[in-house]
Amino acid sequence: MNRAVPSERAAVTSDAGGKRSKTSGSVTPCHVAIIMDGNGRWAKSRGMPRVAGHHSGAKAVRRCVEAAIDQGVEWLTLFAFSSENWRRPEGEVMELTSLLKQYLRSEVAELAKQGVCFRVIGDRARFSPELRAEFDRAERETAGNRRLNLTVALSYGGRDEIVKAARAMAHAVQAGTLDAEAVDEQAFGKFLWTAAMPDPDLLIRTSGERRLSNFLLWQCAYAELIFMDVLWPDFDATHLAAALADFARRDRRYGASVG
Ligand code: FPP
Repeated sequence: MNRAVPSERAAVTSDAGGKRSKTSGSVTPCHVAIIMDGNGRWAKSRGMPRVAGHHSGAKAVRRCVEAAIDQGVEWLTLFAFSSENWRRPEGEVMELTSLLKQYLRSEVAELAKQGVCFRVIGDRARFSPELRAEFDRAERETAGNRRLNLTVALSYGGRDEIVKAARAMAHAVQAGTLDAEAVDEQAFGKFLWTAAMPDPDLLIRTSGERRLSNFLLWQCAYAELIFMDVLWPDFDATHLAAALADFARRDRRYGASVG
């Protein structure tokens, strides 16, 4: 049975690591993070180009956002482009960035209507000024919405995030605005791209791969991990519901003993 987190963790994770439903008594994770994997294999199995898999993947993003709202998730974080994905063939990188632009242009009004607050985490400096302006616009136009916090990780790498946070913290100590003795887990977390976010309670990876691939390394310290065989373009509300049901059966102890 999924238990409430100890109070010192609750402050930095979420309301007791999830929300207990009044009707069923089950626990819904407050923050679900997803490594959306398998677009290429989905396309290949249909004799289609990889980009077709990414387009279907974008449709699955829409379905997943709606399902997360319906199923009571408050924070949803999607890994859409890793810092390593820049090494993919130029054509695929261009297709992915233009798909992102398309998604933002066509979807932001709908996201705002659904009560979604949109954020980007990652090294946004690596994107074109035009795309960065779309990130800013999407964040501005959805700021303050409370139904679902949707974060998309773009040009994101967990180690990159930690190194950049350590560097910024070293600068703060050097400048005298931070006391080195005051550096603890909470203080460090404030320098991460995720400073304003609770830690994920549940991390899902699709496509059958069982790796973290440099995603939210610091933040997933106590996340429950669920690996699903479904390829991302086929992911729908039933897959999210199955993952939430699995989460509700987990016993989260945060290092405490059983019993
Ligand atoms: C991993 O599959 C997926 C990606 C690298 C891109 C994810 C992008 C989307 C889901 C669509 C656009 C996103 C948004 C937010 C609109 P892969 O290409 O590595 O697949 P493979 O492992 O089967 O080759």
